[in-house]
Amino acid sequence: MPTTFELELQSALPDNTVTFGEAIESKYWHDWSGLAPVQPLALVRPRTTQDVSIAMALCNERRIALVPQGGLTGLAGGAQPVAGGVAMSLERMSGVEEIDAVMGTMTVLAGTRLSEIQDAAEAAGLYFPLDLGARGSCSIGGNLSTNAGGNRVIRYGMARDQVLGLEYVLPDGTIVSSLNKMIKNNAGYDLKQLFIGSEGTLGIITRVVLRLQAKPISVATAMCGCPDYEAVLTLLKTARAKLGPSLSAFEVMWPSFVDCMTNGLPQLRKPFAEAHGVYVLIEASGFREEGESAHLEACLSTLLEDGVVNDVVIGASERDAKELWALRDSVSEYPKVLGAVIGFDIGLPTTLMGEAVDRVQREVKAQWPDAHVLCYGHIGDSNLHVVVNVPSAGAHQPHSEVDALVYELVRSMGGTISAEHGIGLVKKPFLSFTRSPEEIALMQRIKAALDPHNVLNPGKVF
Ligand code: FAD
Ligand code: LAC
Ligand code: ZN
Repeated sequence: MPTTFELELQSALPDNTVTFGEAIESKYWHDWSGLAPVQPLALVRPRTTQDVSIAMALCNERRIALVPQGGLTGLAGGAQPVAGGVAMSLERMSGVEEIDAVMGTMTVLAGTRLSEIQDAAEAAGLYFPLDLGARGSCSIGGNLSTNAGGNRVIRYGMARDQVLGLEYVLPDGTIVSSLNKMIKNNAGYDLKQLFIGSEGTLGIITRVVLRLQAKPISVATAMCGCPDYEAVLTLLKTARAKLGPSLSAFEVMWPSFVDCMTNGLPQLRKPFAEAHGVYVLIEASGFREEGESAHLEACLSTLLEDGVVNDVVIGASERDAKELWALRDSVSEYPKVLGAVIGFDIGLPTTLMGEAVDRVQREVKAQWPDAHVLCYGHIGDSNLHVVVNVPSAGAHQPHSEVDALVYELVRSMGGTISAEHGIGLVKKPFLSFTRSPEEIALMQRIKAALDPHNVLNPGKVF
């Protein structure tokens, strides 16, 4: 027998918008965090902002939890359903509504895939710079809700920096439409920032005005083999000075990552015949008529002479560049290569990163001698990813012990427990390692002001 709430929800929304219980496909029961799946009471798949508002308002009145879901690629558990609650997938609210080439903006629905946005910008002769390995599955609503980072932050900033306007639905069902296109707008509080990076706990994003960039006319890519992390810091400093705003990616991979992924995935080529201490993928993109490669090569050849870089592979064609990026993007293959993993998205001052990698590898292996400890990340943005797998533990990875070890190290080094993925459920117990009691109390006051009945994505973040 359906409950009163189920009957109300179904009759308030258009046909084929709500699915209940066993009929809900299992892909909506979990995100990419690896947490145990949770079957929600109901799945709502709205087609319009009005539908979102109706469902949200009803959940608020009846005190039923509602969890927004985008592409479900989140790694922190923010989109995990709540038992007895509603999951709301924005997947049907997808599509580019307008590209304004003069203002340099694109208006999209929140469920639109990131890769679709990138392609639409390119087709209009423009460029949308946000880029991450999950581009083919993640949605712009999820990207904004997590304030995603990715590969080009060093040049263009995070998801937050790509947004001019936002439409969202508050926990009481109120629709706020601020589809601003102007770069400058200081009329009172910049409210949209509250909904960016708050992991779907303050409002449901339904529509976005994105800022587009000019499409670089030339892109140059190179993989460098460096002797050690000190050399990586010199390479970063030099690349910043010599390439200026052309430096559009600086991705670092330690041998633990390169060896594990190239051994596990036969389709990936090892970048060099010889092994190196640390590997750096550099991208320069810009508008110089003579092309960016000449500048990148000139910068790297001096560093080769000085022994800062031991060896370089230049991505001479677009295909070669894609092959170099394939190694970096292979992170989506962890389930195949390693099985269950314990993943981290920590931030540390760039100068301390080499020491942090040495310590984490040493300390994890001291307790779990057979552990794989893969280290890599967006080091130009002070963001390190660590991925741990203990083969002897099989499906029961020692999550809490490894978490405690890594987050204690982050705390002792003055870092952050999340640089780009967010807190969700996974990092909730450690928020106080990075945020002060006053900061957490203020976050809770904002949450209580907007969502007094704690119905929107309850239990996430804190
Ligand atoms: P979901 O996982 O569906 O949701 C994420 C959070 O946003 C949840 O809290 C959810 O409740 C909320 N949410 C979703 N849609 C809305 C909405 N419309 N309104 C309000 N709240 C909403 N992240 C990075 O930052 N950088 C990377 O380089 C990166 N690389 C990745 C590579 C791979 C292979 C994978 C699997 C993930 C990667 N991620 C990365 C993590 C993930 O892709 C991002 O966090 C992404 O932004 C999540 O988008 P999504 O649509 O999948 O969101
Ligand atoms: C990456 C994801 C995991 O950078 O954030 O690969
Ligand atoms: Zn990342």
